[in-house]
Formats: sequence, structure tokens, C-alpha cells
Amino acid sequence: MTTLALADTDPAELPVDAIVVGVYSDEDPAAAPLLAQGAEGVDAAFDGKLAATLALLGATGSVGEVTKLASLGATTAPVIAAVGLGKPGTAPAENLRRASGSAVRALAGSAKVALALPALSEEDGGLRAVAEGALLGSYQFAGYKSKPSGKDAVGTVTVLVPAADDAAAQAEISRAGVVADAVAQCRDWVNTAPNELRPPSFADFVAEAAKKAGLEVEVLDEKALQAGGYGGILAVGMGSEALPRMVRLAYTPKGASSGKKVALVGKGITFDTGGVSIKPAAGMWEMKSDMGGAAAVAATMLAVAALKPSVEIVAYIPMAENMASGSAYRPGDIVTMYGGKKVEVLNTDAEGRMILGDALARACEDNPDYLLETATLTGGQVVALGKRVSGLMGTPELTARVQAAGDRVGEPGWAMPLPDDIKKNMESDIADILQVSAGMDRGGHMLQGGIFLSEFVSEGVQFAHIDIAGPSYHSGEAYGYVTKGSTGVPVRTLLETIDDIALNG
Ligand code: BES
Ligand code: MN
Ligand code: ZN
Repeated sequence: MTTLALADTDPAELPVDAIVVGVYSDEDPAAAPLLAQGAEGVDAAFDGKLAATLALLGATGSVGEVTKLASLGATTAPVIAAVGLGKPGTAPAENLRRASGSAVRALAGSAKVALALPALSEEDGGLRAVAEGALLGSYQFAGYKSKPSGKDAVGTVTVLVPAADDAAAQAEISRAGVVADAVAQCRDWVNTAPNELRPPSFADFVAEAAKKAGLEVEVLDEKALQAGGYGGILAVGMGSEALPRMVRLAYTPKGASSGKKVALVGKGITFDTGGVSIKPAAGMWEMKSDMGGAAAVAATMLAVAALKPSVEIVAYIPMAENMASGSAYRPGDIVTMYGGKKVEVLNTDAEGRMILGDALARACEDNPDYLLETATLTGGQVVALGKRVSGLMGTPELTARVQAAGDRVGEPGWAMPLPDDIKKNMESDIADILQVSAGMDRGGHMLQGGIFLSEFVSEGVQFAHIDIAGPSYHSGEAYGYVTKGSTGVPVRTLLETIDDIALNG
């Protein structure tokens, strides 16, 4: 567990294991990197030779590059680490967040690290970014090794600021702690092996954490789902011996000044085999992450309980395991969804929209002003936008606000259309709607998902669907503050959007 502290002393005299300073890249690639503000004390201890020394060691100042050197007694700390911040003035908050994450990862195994990075005031978001980056980059999944291996995360990260007793600066640090805890909880749930996290146990984990946080909790088991008419969740969930659930979480502040109500919905497929329309074996293990939307929504609610925004929030989290079995649903089935719409199933691997349609229809009964839903919904999202940019669909105004919020927190998304011709192609001859385009036409595959889900949202509710199939999970090596496995996307986007709604209505 990494903890954050603030200090306003000369970093060169701090009793820590390493001091992190920032360096910008110069326009001229052959020139020495430029020391960022905050590095003055360390540079003075190096007789003004820090930049030249770093240039000798090959430092270029590119974002997240870490160059370590021994201080040989020049500073109290035995190690100096210079972290690249990119070109001066480019996307400063996200560069700082990434640099901070890279630095703490490179210094894993150290008990105490000080960050002497530039512009650490609360006004420009720099302090929040550095604090978040350090905590998110320090995340480690406990895993299942009999003998734990690897270095421990940094114990204490001291962030150098102009005034350590400044209340606003302290508030930023404590907010970063809450946000990072939520992201870590999301990552832990997603990284948990799918045999250890099936719908009943996932519902228990979420309910327990939410109760502890002081949220109102309700869990619908398979009998309650049956009695309530949740046909989509049941169709998918009954194919598994581990029966489906839906968790409802509510946060109701007294006298919320915004007067607005937000509903959150997240896809909780604890494992997606594809069902009868079974997936190929290669890569199927990654479908343990198919509950990334559910984990993000549940974790967001835990942060909400701690941050107490002035807006009412309710979350619906459907959970099912998509298996192929004698009780599994099949292509050709007609499923009566919550609220009565009849869906003609063409492919059991399009299971996310089946459980989400029910949850969205139920959420609308609570009369939200805003409905934010997130899901690892389509491979089409990855084809269209890649692994790091989420697909955003829905009503234009809320979609734009989600995109702007995502940009502020370093979780980019891109608005996608819901075209009429694709909608037309989802008309069924025998039911109210086809689950996917006629003939399983894969054109506009991500958009089909958005169109289907929009059908379950009531008129007048502002809606945003965030397809996180790519961005929620990172199978490569860690970079910046993104660790291997679950990324925790879009927890910070949801929290940022909620903040925006609480402040601006
Ligand atoms: N969970 C998958 C989508 C997915 C793919 C998430 C890759 C993360 C990475 C979803 O349930 C799925 O299988 N979608 C199908 C839909 C198709 C059958 C209409 C897909 O994307 O091919
Ligand atoms: Mn699927
Ligand atoms: Zn799925």
C-alpha cells in the first residue's frame, strides 16, 4: 500500500530513498533535456551540472522516460530519478500523471520517494495528476503465486508543494487517495480469476464493499430476477450453474443542490465463452475481463460514497456468466426483456446487450436525468478506435460531456454515430428488434450495440454508452500509470462526469 504525504522543504535535504525531478525534451534532440521547475534544489546540490549529467546518461525528456543516477552524497537521498515530461506545455496534466506513474514504478522496492515535479498547485490540476499518477502506477495485483515475487510498491510518496499545510492541496491529496482506491478495487475485481468471481460471489463482493461504504444495497438473485421479468439477464445467465444476479446501489445525499439524478449501469459478464455461438480458444482467457463495466460502476459508487457529490446516484449492475450448456439460450430464441420488448437472438455472443437492456429499462423507472452506461461490448470498438480510445454513443449533449471529462482525466473517448440505416437493418420480421444486424452483418458493429441499447432508454433521459472493450484491459507491459491487466477505465471518467453534473447540473 502506497501512501501520500505533502512537504514544502528543500528536497535535497529530505530523508528519502530517491528524489524524482522532471525534465522536458528540448526542441533540438541533440541538446540536453531541460530541467523542470522543482529540480532547482537538486541541481544546486549537483553544482548546476544536473542537466549535463542527465544528457550524458542519455536522458531525452520523453514522457515517462526514467533516468536514475547515484547522488554520491550530494543530496540526503542516495538516488535521483529524472522523469521525462515531454515537450514543455503539451497536455501538462496527463504528462505529469504518466510521468509520476512511471517514476514510482521504476522506484519500486524503495520505502520513501519524494516527487519534486513542476506546477504542483491545485489550480491547474497538476497536483491532482501527480498524486493520482503515483498511486495508480503503484498498483499491484496480489495474484496467486505461492511465493510472491517482485519488488514491493513504494511505501510513502512525498509530494513537494509550495505550502504543505494548504487546505486545498491537502484536499487534492485525499481526493486522489479515494479515486485511486476505487480504481484499484476495479482493477482487483477484473484481474480476479473467473473461477473465483462468478455472478453470486461477485454480487457478494460488491454488496459487502458497498455496505461498508454506507451505500443502500439490494441484490436480486435468480428468483427475484424471474419474478421481476428480467428476461435478458436470465436468458444469458441460466446457461451457467453459477446463477445470475443484479445489484442495485443507491447514494442519496440530503438536499442535493444540483437537483439532478444520475443512473449508472455496467456490464457484468464474469466470463464470456460466447455461449452456443462459442468463441475461438485463442485469447478467450481475456474474457475474464468482460465484467469491466460492472467493476467500474461498482468502484465508482464506492468513491461516490466517500467524495459525497451533491447529486443523487443509483447504479444497476447485471451479472451473468455466458456459458454453453443444456440450459443455455440459443440463436433463434425470442427473449422477452424487462419492460416487455421482444428480442430475436441471432448470436449468443452478443450477450452484453441482453443483460444491459434489462438493466437500462429498470434504471429508467427511477427517472434519472442522466444515464451513464459502460460495457466491454464489442470487438468492433477495438477495430474502430484501438486499445486506448473508448467508443461513445448516445444523446449528443451527454456524450460530449463524457468525452470532455475523459479528456481531462486521461481516459480519451470518441463520439460515434447511431445511423438510421443500421437501425433499419436491426428490424426483426417476427419480434420487436433484432439483437444484431440482419444476417449478422458486421458493418458498424460497435454502432449496432449502441443502437440496441438506446432502444431500452426512455424518451427524455440523456444517455451515454461507453464501449470500453479495448481500453478497460491492458495485456502488454505497464506504461505510465497503466499497469498490466485491468486499467480501471472508465472509473475516473465517471467520477469526473458526476462532479461536472453535481457542479453544473
Ligand atoms: N465481450 C465481447 C466483446 C469484447 C471483445 C470485449 C474483445 C473485449 C475484447 C462481446 O460480448 C462480444 O462477444 N461481442 C461480439 C458481438 C457480436 C457477436 C455481435 C463481438 O464483438 O464480436
Ligand atoms: Mn460475447
Ligand atoms: Zn461479452
